[in-house]
Amino acid sequence: MASRKLLLLPGDGIGPEAMAEVRKLVALMNERFGAGFETEEGLVGGSAYDAHGQAVSEADMAKAMAADAVLFGAVGGPKWADVPYEVRPEAGLLRLRKDLELFANLRPAICYPALAAASSLRQEVVEGLDILIVRELTGGVYFGEPKEIIDLGNGQKRGIDTQVYDTYEIERICGVAFELARTRRNKVCSMEKHNVMKSGVLWKEVATATHKARYSDVELTHMLADAGGMQLVRWPKQFDVIVTDNLFGDMLSDVAAMLTGSLGMLPSASLGAPDAKTGKRKALYEPVHGSAPDIAGKGIANPIAMIASFAMCLRYSFGMIEEADRLEAAIAAVLADGLRTADIAAPGAQTIGTTAMGDAIAEKFLALSAA
Ligand code: IPM
Ligand code: MG
Repeated sequence: MASRKLLLLPGDGIGPEAMAEVRKLVALMNERFGAGFETEEGLVGGSAYDAHGQAVSEADMAKAMAADAVLFGAVGGPKWADVPYEVRPEAGLLRLRKDLELFANLRPAICYPALAAASSLRQEVVEGLDILIVRELTGGVYFGEPKEIIDLGNGQKRGIDTQVYDTYEIERICGVAFELARTRRNKVCSMEKHNVMKSGVLWKEVATATHKARYSDVELTHMLADAGGMQLVRWPKQFDVIVTDNLFGDMLSDVAAMLTGSLGMLPSASLGAPDAKTGKRKALYEPVHGSAPDIAGKGIANPIAMIASFAMCLRYSFGMIEEADRLEAAIAAVLADGLRTADIAAPGAQTIGTTAMGDAIAEKFLALSAA
């Protein structure tokens, strides 16, 4: 069996605690099923800054480039609030996304039946929800140049960010959305602001042309991104796949995440283009939740988003579909058994810590594998 190279970047805050639960699963899969994972470790975010004065070191970037997949925990915290902008913790994540060319960010929002009551929306609105936001991740206003603050010399400054998209960037992200829709309910809704933004006009044009040329079997609709936000909280089940740009995707995916009851539940995958020779994609998997410094080190963080990110890694980087299905089923099963970390527990209900949740999922995973 060819080896499977994983780079673990636990990062800051609850990142390391959550990653510890994935490390256990990796070891288990190696021992029990000869999965052949080879892991390396590195630093990112504040922990990398403390060690090297950079948000991610060149050595760790090289490891990321060489890995089949990167598993990323979380970055940031008040300790690094005042470090220079270029080396702030988030810069490590942005550099990984940019240098690995991870243009496609997949953010599923799934509402587990056991958690439908935890959503701030009515149960019937979210129960059974299963949508996928496909966010463009390496372009748009987060990366466009010029990006600066200039001194106007009259006591005023000007902050500038540039929203820019080329045809190929829109085409390839829409392609990913259409392909994924074919494996689901075959519907894509493209969101932009063509009523006020030139990049939105082009986005709509290219989405439409890509659909016509290669994906006319998929249903395509368009929605203005602000209306899309409104529809996401009004009746989210109308959507299957949503494709949108970097900024709108950042916001809409947080909205979608909260529909499911907790940010602590949601994984994500960031994928590059398939390599022309090997067909392999560069990839990074990370929970949508942040570093949650307020609860870091207490052993109470919810490891499910991190474990579900590993399930996405099995699915998308290694084609281990059955194992991914089983791991996701294990998560659903422990929730159905009533196990809860503090973030998803009803007030007054009994809770378990990070390690106990990780162990319970690992045990279910083994039981499902034996069945
Ligand atoms: C996310 C985060 C990041 C982003 C930050 C940490 C740079 O909010 O992954 O959604 O804005 O993309
Ligand atoms: Mg975000």
